[in-house]
Amino acid sequence: MAALETFIRVTRPYLLHACLLEILFSTLVVLYVQSQPAHSDDDWARHALERSLHPPIGLPELKVPKSDPLTAAKIGLGAKLFFDDRLSRDNSMSCASCHVPEQGFTSNDTPTATGVGGRALRRNAPSLFNVGYMKRLFHDGREGDLSAQVWGPLLSPLEMANASPSEIIARINSLRDYRGLFQTAYGRPADARNLGQALAAYQRSLLSANAPFDRWRLFGEADAMPLSARRGFSLFTGKGGCARCHTVEDGYALFTDHQYYNTGIGAQSAAGGGAMGDLGRMAVSRDLADIYRFKTPGLRNVALTAPYMHDGSIATLKDAVRFYNRGGAANPGLHASIKPLGLNDREIDDLVAFLQALTGSNVDALISEARNAFDR
Ligand code: HEC
Ligand code: HEC
Repeated sequence: MAALETFIRVTRPYLLHACLLEILFSTLVVLYVQSQPAHSDDDWARHALERSLHPPIGLPELKVPKSDPLTAAKIGLGAKLFFDDRLSRDNSMSCASCHVPEQGFTSNDTPTATGVGGRALRRNAPSLFNVGYMKRLFHDGREGDLSAQVWGPLLSPLEMANASPSEIIARINSLRDYRGLFQTAYGRPADARNLGQALAAYQRSLLSANAPFDRWRLFGEADAMPLSARRGFSLFTGKGGCARCHTVEDGYALFTDHQYYNTGIGAQSAAGGGAMGDLGRMAVSRDLADIYRFKTPGLRNVALTAPYMHDGSIATLKDAVRFYNRGGAANPGLHASIKPLGLNDREIDDLVAFLQALTGSNVDALISEARNAFDR
């Protein structure tokens, strides 16, 4: 911009009478103005902060550590980091490579995520919508703190492959475009703690709800959700027994009880020779009773986050409902409430229609917000 201004200042007196060049000049200005983001950095991050303080209808209050309150500066910095390939050792991969905004902050194309050098990981990348409400993280719940979680992917040789926290911190502190940003957000340069906190701040702002289901249930908008989806909700809480684990609370719903269950997916993968020996929760608790138990995922925006289950082994929502209708996959540890449901074809479609009514109204806004952050 400075170069353009100087050019204009120096040459303008000579060009004033040159009509054609004048037109060229104004075209350039218009193009320049159009190429700028519609909102300033602060605008979108402030909006994201506002959303975190007043979550969309259908979500409860968002609890954030008292020692690390959300601010627009932290959210903005976290977004920049989230989309930055330079966070991986070979500059090939950002968090968004696996948690793709347009794909529901997961990866739709592969059952399990792909790490640096194209290596397949053993698990499906979970969606990050509403991740700020998760009491435990990862499919086996091995991590509880969102701001500590980031070191998993950052240091995993299969994922972003950094050798040590200090390697990344040194790299970030040497990058010109990060100069001052950590100072503004945290009052000190980047370190192992505030890097995780900034990424957590951005992820905490990814709240998505106000779905047709919420408007029907909480605002009493009778036609917000089609009849089929309304029947589906009755099945979800009734005959299907889904709400036993995918909980629906008074006044809000996260569709998870934050517990671990054996639905048979883990056993099925193991029997098929897949899943690379994934024992689920047992690998964390060392308790044999936890074999093949995985965390109950939330179901908001589930229509956007295929493929499903910890190993991505189920391709569509209809297949997921059929899986439950069959009674999951038989194995010694199968949870007692996973049993054949006797749903007919219409009931299966109704449950699918219900799951489709869980897509938040602000999904597109969150995606373009993310892309604005990415493009700058
Ligand atoms: C190579 C692909 C890949 C990259 C890169 C990646 N993730 Fe993930 N992410 C995954 C997978 C796979 C899981 C599930 C792992 C498990 O359960 O063991 C996951 C899990 C998570 C979870 C837990 C969500 C939940 O509901 O339990 C969070 C949060 C998360 N990632 C955030 C990030 C952040 C932040 C970054 C960047 C620093 C990142 N991820 C980079 C693939 C990736
Ligand atoms: C006993 C607890 C339990 C019950 C009952 C239950 N689920 Fe699940 N659900 C889970 C767990 C645990 C997973 C994750 C399994 C895995 O990753 O291997 C899951 C995964 C899912 C997924 C995949 C979500 C994703 O993002 O991958 C869908 C969809 C789903 N359940 C829908 C339903 C429906 C519909 C019903 C009722 C017919 C139901 N569930 C009943 C515990 C339960």
